[in-house]
Amino acid sequence: MLVLSGSSVPKVAQNIASELGCESVDYNTRKFPDGERYVRLTKNVKDEKVVVIQSIFGDPDSLLFEYALLTDAAWGAGASEIIGVFPYLAYLRQDERFNQGEALSSKVVVDIIQSTHTSKVFVVDPHLHRVHDINRLFNIPAFNVTAMFQMAEYAKSNLELRDPMVIAPDEEAGQWASKVANALETKYAIAKKVRFGDLDVRIDIEGVDIQGHDVLLVDDIISTGGTLANISQSLEKMGAKRVFALVTHGLFATGAYERVKNSGIKEIITTDTVPNKYSLVSIAPSIAKAIQND
Ligand code: R5P
Repeated sequence: MLVLSGSSVPKVAQNIASELGCESVDYNTRKFPDGERYVRLTKNVKDEKVVVIQSIFGDPDSLLFEYALLTDAAWGAGASEIIGVFPYLAYLRQDERFNQGEALSSKVVVDIIQSTHTSKVFVVDPHLHRVHDINRLFNIPAFNVTAMFQMAEYAKSNLELRDPMVIAPDEEAGQWASKVANALETKYAIAKKVRFGDLDVRIDIEGVDIQGHDVLLVDDIISTGGTLANISQSLEKMGAKRVFALVTHGLFATGAYERVKNSGIKEIITTDTVPNKYSLVSIAPSIAKAIQND
């Protein structure tokens, strides 16, 4: 087995290679004067399983195309199998045509991946809101790798939690909150979120006694930070002692760092699926384990 890293998260790819005890594939890449990208593998991959790692964030369209070029290069050079690893897979939130005339982005991104020579995929905490099973999105085998156990472990060892309680900002985040709550042997509750716009989010938490508890907010994505900032302010008003956030993918769109910093959240913990200043948990062990167990 060999690891082939796209340009998005080379450190994560390196860590996965070392967890798997396998070598990495080097390649030359450059842009032609007109902006087109060129890729050539410089290691022989013939008859090898090749794990291609690409996190799709920041400049998602370009990284997705790079993924397609890398998989094609590996296939053309005779790889026996190509396994796709997406620490973060963008576009999954648009999983419905909410308004007439919109593109169904989640299907488009999956179709692009399936049009490469990828035989199976591993995706970390994919956003599955209206489609609950990743295998209903993909026609090839797809594995949902969760970061929640590692993040719960981090919280347990580093946050000195007192009377912790886990809160999911919305119904979908319930699946992640329950994992963290189980790992910490504590309770969890699900808030009600209504989104009126990119930055306009209202959150209700009813019937939950937060008073005096350390609260762990658990979610898959921080984008604008609006969800976390809003819910953290409500929790403080309800008497939470300290509020922490455990979030797998820290996208931190423009203004998000400021927004969460000013929201009263004591500490934010994310993984390195999207490297950011709160990437305190390495995702490589969970991914390597999932690949090994398959
Ligand atoms: C949405 O349902 C996701 O699970 C996240 O809660 C959301 O993407 C966070 O976005 P923002 O940080 O922009 O509020």
